[in-house]
Amino acid sequence: MRSIKRREFLGLSAGATAAILLSQCSKAQTQGSTASPTLLPGRVINSQGGLLSLDLEANVQPVPLGNRRANLLTFNGQMPGPRLEAKPGDTVQIRFTNRLNQPTNLHYHGLHVTPQGNADNIFLSVPPGERLTYEFTLPADHPAGTFWYHPHHHGHVAEQLFGGLAGLFIVRGELDELPEIKAAQEAFMVLQDFDITRAGDIAAPNPMAMMMGREGPIVTVNGQVNPGLAIPQGGLLRLRLLNASPARFYRLQLEGHTLHLVATDGGAIAAPIELSELLLAPGERAEVLVQGNREPGQYRLLNLPYDRGGMMMGGGMGMGGGGMGGMNHSMGNMPHQSGGDTAQPLATLTYDGSVAALPLPQQLGRVDPLPEPTVTRRLELSMAMGPGMSMAFLFNGKTFDEQRIDITPTLNTIEEWELANVDPDRMDHPFHLHVNPFQVISRNGQPEPYQAWKDTVLVKGNEAVRIRIPFRTFTGKTVYHCHILDHEDLGMMGTVDIQPA
Ligand code: C2O
Ligand code: CU
Ligand code: CU
Repeated sequence: MRSIKRREFLGLSAGATAAILLSQCSKAQTQGSTASPTLLPGRVINSQGGLLSLDLEANVQPVPLGNRRANLLTFNGQMPGPRLEAKPGDTVQIRFTNRLNQPTNLHYHGLHVTPQGNADNIFLSVPPGERLTYEFTLPADHPAGTFWYHPHHHGHVAEQLFGGLAGLFIVRGELDELPEIKAAQEAFMVLQDFDITRAGDIAAPNPMAMMMGREGPIVTVNGQVNPGLAIPQGGLLRLRLLNASPARFYRLQLEGHTLHLVATDGGAIAAPIELSELLLAPGERAEVLVQGNREPGQYRLLNLPYDRGGMMMGGGMGMGGGGMGGMNHSMGNMPHQSGGDTAQPLATLTYDGSVAALPLPQQLGRVDPLPEPTVTRRLELSMAMGPGMSMAFLFNGKTFDEQRIDITPTLNTIEEWELANVDPDRMDHPFHLHVNPFQVISRNGQPEPYQAWKDTVLVKGNEAVRIRIPFRTFTGKTVYHCHILDHEDLGMMGTVDIQPA
């Protein structure tokens, strides 16, 4: 009985979806004709006895996308890739095979593990047809949190993520043991967008779209278009969100509900913070609690329009306004405003049954403030027009050179970096650093309202963001870059070589 009822509910929501997609006038309208599927959790691979061991293959596979099939890039044939779950202190062994027709590799975004050897080493390359076993150990004091893995082969990163290659890497720990968190229903949401040709292949972006960062009109949660999820009235929902898109921003709002932020990129914050909306730039994660404290009904998780700057690219050349011109393919990936001019439903929440109201947690974790830095640096984020249509994206006026060491911090010291977005086009650039999480100290001189561990931070046009980084545990060479992955592939990346103390 219950499942029939649910289907009726979801049937309604599919109608609403179709109407909205039609009004958006994009080719995504082809998706809206069937009932919303239930949000699927996807495959999970857990560590056992201190070891997370698995085979992982990157390949091209036909997979369902909305109500069609698309030839996407997958890990183990799944979209997104399997969710990996481990605990602090665990060893991770990933026997990786590259079945793509181009080189690739793996990066463990947000994990505090060594960048050397066959660990979180993005300078490794796995050629087509070859294999490599990744192996590393999570420190015993590694924070619990929502991390992820994805390819990081310079020059192919945007393309490979746009094909779908991404998966969650969850570290279970203290936050998961809080009674209020434990009582909540947990749902993972990997947000990805796609652009698919009529033949079902991944569409190639035009050069203009690459400058802004490629976006696709098909927006998915765990590879599904507008899936439904249900909680009991009175229940508590723990949403663990990942922006795995190469360039699309998600400005999230849940109709009728506020979001209670409990964790950011690097894990728990001190106490929940109530938000009416949540902006997730590419690479960022957040965990929020939702209280089922409304009347039974349908509440859409919306992606609201967001303007990520780029006056020349987006507006000044007559291509702005969110690509609304867009029945045709090229306009479909001509972003200026992520999500176009209208709110776009990502998922639909319904109520199913009821329970005695579950409380929100009062306290979550500790985020100790960092001491004064021993070194301060300034990094300028910008871009420059090259000959013809070419464009370079830069840190301190330089494009990425794997051989050049840009920053040499000393282990066990704290540095403060001023990230200054001096982009003449005032484009947003989400800054990301590997291996060591950081805290945001201020934005344009204004102190951050709360402390949190981050590994990716949005630096908007004309903004200067100060971050404080403790270089801990590991020496070796790694990178920082813009997480609009087209910008990274076009040079917006620098190297860090952490020196022994
Ligand atoms: Cu999510 Cu260097 O990347
Ligand atoms: Cu990363
Ligand atoms: Cu950028």
